[in-house]
Amino acid sequence: MDSLLQTLQSSPIFFIILPLLLAFVLFSLTTLRKKLPYPPGPKGYPIIGNMAMMDQLTHRGLADLAKKYGGLLHLQMGAIHVVAVSTPDMAKEVLQAQDLVFANRPANVAITYLTYDRADMAFANYGPFWRQMRKICVIKLFSRRREESWASVREEVDSTLQTVMNTTGSKVNIGELVFALTRNITYRAAFGSFSHDGQDEFVKILQEFSKLFGAFNIADFFPWMGWINARGFYKRMARARESLDGFIDSIIDEHMKKKKKKNVRDEEGKINYNDGEAEAEADTDMVDELMAFYSEEEGVAAKGDGDDLQSAKLTRDHIKAIIMDVMFGGTETVASAIEWAMAELMKSPYDLKKVQEELAEKVGLTRILHDSDLKQLTYLKCCIKETLRLHPPIPLLLHETASNTVVSGYNIPAKSRVMINAWAIGRDPSAWEDPDKFNPARFLHENAPDFTGNHFEYIPFGSGRRSCPGMQLGLYALELSVAHLLHCFNWELPDGMSPGELDMNDMFGLTAPKACRLVAVPSYRLTCPLKIF
Ligand code: HEM
Repeated sequence: MDSLLQTLQSSPIFFIILPLLLAFVLFSLTTLRKKLPYPPGPKGYPIIGNMAMMDQLTHRGLADLAKKYGGLLHLQMGAIHVVAVSTPDMAKEVLQAQDLVFANRPANVAITYLTYDRADMAFANYGPFWRQMRKICVIKLFSRRREESWASVREEVDSTLQTVMNTTGSKVNIGELVFALTRNITYRAAFGSFSHDGQDEFVKILQEFSKLFGAFNIADFFPWMGWINARGFYKRMARARESLDGFIDSIIDEHMKKKKKKNVRDEEGKINYNDGEAEAEADTDMVDELMAFYSEEEGVAAKGDGDDLQSAKLTRDHIKAIIMDVMFGGTETVASAIEWAMAELMKSPYDLKKVQEELAEKVGLTRILHDSDLKQLTYLKCCIKETLRLHPPIPLLLHETASNTVVSGYNIPAKSRVMINAWAIGRDPSAWEDPDKFNPARFLHENAPDFTGNHFEYIPFGSGRRSCPGMQLGLYALELSVAHLLHCFNWELPDGMSPGELDMNDMFGLTAPKACRLVAVPSYRLTCPLKIF
């Protein structure tokens, strides 16, 4: 056998036959894959495919389609393949078994332009650049060790309690209250003591970004038709990006000045933390953390090695894009979860009573709740988990395939947009008993799913490589807010409304908040004064 191999290797025919053989095997594999069908799905029209069904690309629309076509379904949107994943076993296949193939993000024309050509983490494709950005965010921005982020949650929750205290006895729009709370938390964590004067302007800029991200643009489905509404659309995008540049550039300039001042002080050994100004400067915000990697050189971060933070370099564009990730990732998600938790509890007086009894027993009505109390609030934590099952703040996880692949015997082409329906999965009747019912006690069971992403019937924070890096911070803000609001106050529905009359419809966007804001009337519950500051 060995001598046959040696003879073959020494023959020039070997060098002709081997490549031909390899080409044949590759060709056969490709043809075989091409012959595999796409996953089942509604029949489309020539050229446009299923584009007439665009309005069904929501968590509810796709869940309805999944009832007919199954947990893995295919839609053709112009030139784009869309694959919807709606069952726990299919989610496990794409987020665990084949996670590397499914770890890219889709980005339309607007997202690419507005994120400075995907200079952030959330929209970057999987690879060394994303790994490095993720490392910077996880270690420097969202880590439990970065006490300032946690402090901004505490301080803003305290200030919200004071606002509620001033309005006891009258109607409070809880939706608006908690959206303002989480905006303040993220703004403060990102920009620190930088004046809040510009906050309204910043919120307007982000709202325009959000509209542009979701705006219909024919070029996203037929790239060769981009010229049709290109001028108007690009002008609008350019205006939005100019506004963001103006806003964050001035903040970055302030931080650079602060950094230079501090360096001079450090060199002269004069830093004195009893001095008020120096103390304020010692508080670092997220921009400060990112400025530590700042470089004037363009496009440097992509060169860094994903595993080595020392070599990481960020430009202004990276800093702007990461701050946007924090604002988008951390504001609406947490706010909608707080509002849904309060709404579900107002709708279920039995569970509300149980949570308040637990607070009275574990914390007591003679004092304010502390961070350390949270770990004892088992039933409250179950209510939060159940809320995130029924109302995952990001109902559709958006991924993209990096290469051709096969799932369950179906062909999934490279660059397919994959929508993992966390909302439908959390209500899958084969995984959950009485799935549409708010029943926090289901999480009291020993083997109940947790947030780790290893239980594919429960993925409010996703699972695997692209899962949420801000989970700890988000959960902290969510648990602390709900615990304080229910410990300090009793809440009544307004105008004699009964719990059964509460409107529990949702809206679809980047998140799925309550369609109709929750309004309730607070009354003070503690026997001690609300002394927070
Ligand atoms: C209740 C609160 C939150 C929920 C339910 C939530 C949920 C999620 C989900 C489902 C994803 C996508 C996972 C995937 O695509 O597979 C995600 C990604 C992300 N989240 Fe969160 N999130 C929350 C809070 C936060 C906070 C507070 C921050 C930051 C301050 C944050 C920052 C991000 C970022 C940057 C990503 C993109 C990660 C990547 O693409 O690598 N999130 N989050």
